[in-house]
Amino acid sequence: MNQQNIPLPPAYEEILAQSRKLGFPMLSDVYTGSLLRTLVASKPAGRFLELGTGTGLALSWIVEAMNSESTVVSVDNNELYQSVAKHFFGTDPRVELICTDGNQWIVENQQEEFDLIFADTWPGKYSVLEETLAMLKPGGFYLIDDMLPQPNWPEGHPDNVDKLIAHLEQRSDIQMTKMNWSTGLIFIAKK
Ligand SMILES: C[S@@+](CC[C@H](N)C(=O)[O-])C[C@H]1O[C@@H](n2cnc3c(N)ncnc32)[C@H](O)[C@@H]1O
Repeated sequence: MNQQNIPLPPAYEEILAQSRKLGFPMLSDVYTGSLLRTLVASKPAGRFLELGTGTGLALSWIVEAMNSESTVVSVDNNELYQSVAKHFFGTDPRVELICTDGNQWIVENQQEEFDLIFADTWPGKYSVLEETLAMLKPGGFYLIDDMLPQPNWPEGHPDNVDKLIAHLEQRSDIQMTKMNWSTGLIFIAKK
C-alpha cells in the first residue's frame, strides 16, 4: 500500500535527473512529497513556505497541488541548486524563489503568514524555530522530515533531533503527530 501507485508530479523525473547531474544528494523522497501534496491540496488559495528549495523536487509536489489562487515562497542560499527549480517553476506567477540565507529571511519577514511551512533545512527547524512557528496561521501545518536516524546524519546530530522533538512535545500552542513514514516526519497543526 505504501509503495505502490504514487503518481509523480509532471516535472519530477526531469528534476531528479538534473539533481543527479549536479550531484545534489538531499532530495525529499516520494513519501514526504506525497503527504506534502495532500496537505497543500487541503488549502485552496493557500500561502505556502518551503525552507530549503534544493533543486525543487519537493516543490514539484507542492506546485502540482496548488490551485490558481495559491502561492508558494521557497528559500535557499545555494544559487546553483535553486537554478534547477527556477528552470521549472521560475515563470509560474504563483511561485517565488528567493536565494538568501534562511535565518535572515525568516527574521526579516515576520509579518508574513503561511498556511503550511515545509522546513527542509537548518533554519526553521534547528534555528529560528520560534520565529518560523510565529509565521504559521492558526490551523496551519508545519512539516519536517529526517526525524528518524538516517545514514547521512553528521556526528552529534541525534542530539539535535532529540532536543528538537523534546521541545516540540512540551509546546502547548501546537498539536503534533510523530510519523514512522518516509524518513520520520513530524506533522504539526498550530492551535
Ligand atoms: C534537504 S535540502 C532541500 C531539499 C528540497 N526541499 C527537496 O525536497 O528537494 C536542504 C537545502 O537547504 C539549503 N540550505 C542550507 N543552509 C541554508 C541556509 N542557511 N539558508 C537557506 N538555505 C540553506 C541547501 O542549499 C539545500 O539546498
